[in-house]
Amino acid sequence: MTMKTSMKSQGCGEIRKENIGQTLTVAGWVNTVRDLGGIIFVEMRDRTGFFQLVSDPQKNPEVYEVFQKLKDEFVIQAEGVVSMRPEDTYNPELPTGEVEIYPTKIKILSEAALLPFQLESDDVNEDLRLKYRYLDLRRQETLKNLKLRHNLVKTMRNYLNDHDFMEVETPILINTTPEGARDYVVPSRVHPGSFYALPQSPQIFKQLLMVGGIERYYQIARCFRDEDLRADRQPEFTQVDIEMSFVEQQDIINLVEGLLVETFKVIGAEVKAPFPVMTYHDAMERYGSDRPDVRFGLELFDITDIIMESEFNIIKDTINAGGIVRAIKIPGIATYSRKEIDDLTKLAISFGAKALANIQYMPDGTVKSPVLKFMTEEQAKKLQERAGAQAGDMVFFIADKPKVVFDVLSRFRLYMGKRLDLIDENAHGLLWVVDFPMFEYSEEDGRYVSVHHPFTMPNPEDIDKMETDPAHCRSIAYDIVYNGNELGGGSVRIHKPDIQKRVFKALGLSDEDVHKKFEFMVNAFKYGTPPHAGLALGLDRVVALLAKTESIRDVIAFPKNSAAKCLMTGAPTEATEEQLRELHLKSTVKPRN
Ligand code: AMO
Ligand code: AMP
Repeated sequence: MTMKTSMKSQGCGEIRKENIGQTLTVAGWVNTVRDLGGIIFVEMRDRTGFFQLVSDPQKNPEVYEVFQKLKDEFVIQAEGVVSMRPEDTYNPELPTGEVEIYPTKIKILSEAALLPFQLESDDVNEDLRLKYRYLDLRRQETLKNLKLRHNLVKTMRNYLNDHDFMEVETPILINTTPEGARDYVVPSRVHPGSFYALPQSPQIFKQLLMVGGIERYYQIARCFRDEDLRADRQPEFTQVDIEMSFVEQQDIINLVEGLLVETFKVIGAEVKAPFPVMTYHDAMERYGSDRPDVRFGLELFDITDIIMESEFNIIKDTINAGGIVRAIKIPGIATYSRKEIDDLTKLAISFGAKALANIQYMPDGTVKSPVLKFMTEEQAKKLQERAGAQAGDMVFFIADKPKVVFDVLSRFRLYMGKRLDLIDENAHGLLWVVDFPMFEYSEEDGRYVSVHHPFTMPNPEDIDKMETDPAHCRSIAYDIVYNGNELGGGSVRIHKPDIQKRVFKALGLSDEDVHKKFEFMVNAFKYGTPPHAGLALGLDRVVALLAKTESIRDVIAFPKNSAAKCLMTGAPTEATEEQLRELHLKSTVKPRN
């Protein structure tokens, strides 16, 4: 690698012992200045690393005079002969730590005002860093993350190019793409009253590329979703978006496994394909989650039958009303104090449970529990056997609607896994979750909605349940999961107009809706559509997880904050009267800030 330009002979971080005796020109930022009573040391920095310059007034008074003016973050250019540092001043932490230059020429290219925060200080609040993101980018951590992002994308591109994929760009100003989030809309000036939507994903276009005969497509694609943000969600984010023709689920799985094996090598990790495959049903039953963290155990188990035999009437009522009971055994915590158990109960309640029942299998062989009074000895024994509980263990259980039980217990499991330090941080918990349900009932919309998206193929075995029993209709959709995170998801697509129409109907879309939104697509499928399937990886998530950072904001050059604001530019901001007029819009509110 060389960073050579007309203004520098190479990067600061690239200079080594081999360069001793050579006259080099370096250019970059002043990282630190240390004045050791007469001799001034400047640590310079550029993208490639750090390098030490020294000035001695005895050797070169003119250069020394410039050195005296240097302050942090000034941009400078210096020329001189590379020399060996005295041995007792080696810096083993830097690749350039054995060499230095006493410049014979130095130039200040640009001065710098006092920075609003110290670059490498640990306690800078994130809002301040985001406001001055261009300075934040100078921090080694941020730079490292962006370099990793670049290297991961490069690897993925190479892999896909080597497998005959074509990168094709799809439009940003489009109609709607239904991925279950709200659209960002853009008003049209030339079509008063009309709006574009920004793509939630390139889904429809990539399928139409298959109709168009592209066969193997990928795109590093920007997607826009107006949804509630979390650490792993941004309003605009990037997908590694893939689609293939003449394939089945297994083809996509093989391709993506190969892609991920190469991708993980970038961080020096060897992951082995094939990855484990788990059905959605098993993932929910065992972990309470469709993105299980399989790096540790603490699996859930079903005690519905035992409870139904017992006198535990409140819970039996819950079950009779369509509820379920699931339990989890946590080894070695039977002796938790009353307060610790109360705190766990409060935690479960904060996750959405109504209550958390517990059974303490004490080390002395006694059993303590507020719920055993509802059970016969035999039932209690059966429960202990089901749990595989031994002296010292504690069992918890929850009865509620399935969604609540799974959601609470999966979060409780993760919490306990972390609290008891059961998670092997060096393990790579990669797996496929397959056989997702086709539909789920949305209380909010009062109808069934797609679990993946409406272009997903129903499982042929369940296709006739679409109209009669949508809740039990499986789809050919799959997610790739890593350490409890959804890295990506995809599906085999519907390529027959009649099936597509049935799915739209099952989703409660009127003929008019279909006609307005998707007629072009249903129509396109009439003209000879290959069977096709695909998947999209959430690039930001892949990078954040491989960089082991908490938030995807850390791996995006200019992210939005959790309120979807860009703290640097201030976006979103008020439109001017003039803009609104041209767009035929009237604003009914004033922005709050
Ligand atoms: P899906 O909606 O599952 O599938 O998205 C694919 C992946 O994109 C990432 N992702 C996000 N990352 C950051 N911020 C967000 N707001 C966000 N939303 C999603 C996740 C997710 O797994 N068109 C389909 C793919 C297909 O069927 O081929 C799609 O978009 O990592
Ligand atoms: P009591 O307070 O004697 O009526 O006992 C009720 C016990 O059942 C308490 O320990 C509750 O935590 C537990 N309990 C009640 N409802 C549920 C539920 N839905 N899930 C789990 N435990 C429950």
